[in-house]
Amino acid sequence: GFWHFHGFWYHSKADFSVEAIMALQDDFQALPTDVFLASHPKSGTTWLKALAFAILDRNKFKIGISSCPTHPLLYISPHDCVPFIESESFLNNPSYANGLMHTHIPYTSLPTSINSSDCRIVYLCRNPKDVLISYWHFLNKLKDDGSTPTKLDDAFELFSRGMSPYGSFWDHVIGYYKASLERPNKVLFLKYEDLKKDPEKEVKKLAKFIGNPFTKEDEFDGSVQKIIELCGFENLREVNKDGKQSPKVCSDDIYFRKGVVGDAVNYLTTEMIQTLDKITKEKFDECVRQEIVKLENPQF
Ligand code: A3P
Repeated sequence: GFWHFHGFWYHSKADFSVEAIMALQDDFQALPTDVFLASHPKSGTTWLKALAFAILDRNKFKIGISSCPTHPLLYISPHDCVPFIESESFLNNPSYANGLMHTHIPYTSLPTSINSSDCRIVYLCRNPKDVLISYWHFLNKLKDDGSTPTKLDDAFELFSRGMSPYGSFWDHVIGYYKASLERPNKVLFLKYEDLKKDPEKEVKKLAKFIGNPFTKEDEFDGSVQKIIELCGFENLREVNKDGKQSPKVCSDDIYFRKGVVGDAVNYLTTEMIQTLDKITKEKFDECVRQEIVKLENPQF
């Protein structure tokens, strides 16, 4: 079954998101210095967590795979470095070290204190076809109990109808995209594809936005490149390959599958691709009609 809440559909089975959103509404108090990483599931959250963590704490932990064997990202998961605010453990004990947190909650359902305080939000968007394929693989990897795998047709059907874990992918993206245009100092909108294409540019943008910009000295000693390498797919996958982490819904190795752009074409039929592209176009046209966006195409 599904819940309908604040205009978004949520899975009701084994999903605490609606309860968590309601609990956070009442109890969560954001600080002006906080930074929230936000994303629709399977958009590259793990990568963004690693990057933001490495950027913020780079003075505390010397960066560099060879020069710093004790960097947390070399032995624990990015998910253990940045708390997920709607998780049970966070709700029971809302502690965090450096003001960096993560959420999948749609923009319009964020706890009011996040919107009313001066804290910043970084949203990571990824193209819907790759998100769907990534999610479908993830879902089936979660089923390590031998239950029947979810068919791609069924995953596609639900995704295209907006029945994803945190509601419609498109509405999720549009909510944050709109906020990034209206409040550019508060919300930074990044794309997975841009991060893949020009990591240096995007990582610098991210560092500047979260208040820890790279200095000339940092550039000289190669900090940007070191962070990119430390948080790179190969490295993170290697660190997390045994899935040895603490009690969680799943082991961390399942967050690293392929880490590329465009893998969806290897799975989706031409018809499925056309349907998803059509929904994206319709959603975008609707934004233009409502004057949410003017001419710039988010190309998600
Ligand atoms: P694929 O399944 O397409 O490989 P999330 O972290 O939001 O759950 O998203 C997971 C997706 O991000 C997976 O996509 C995963 O492989 C990819 N990913 C994880 N770490 C990455 C990294 N360091 N660089 C690029 N992609 C990464």
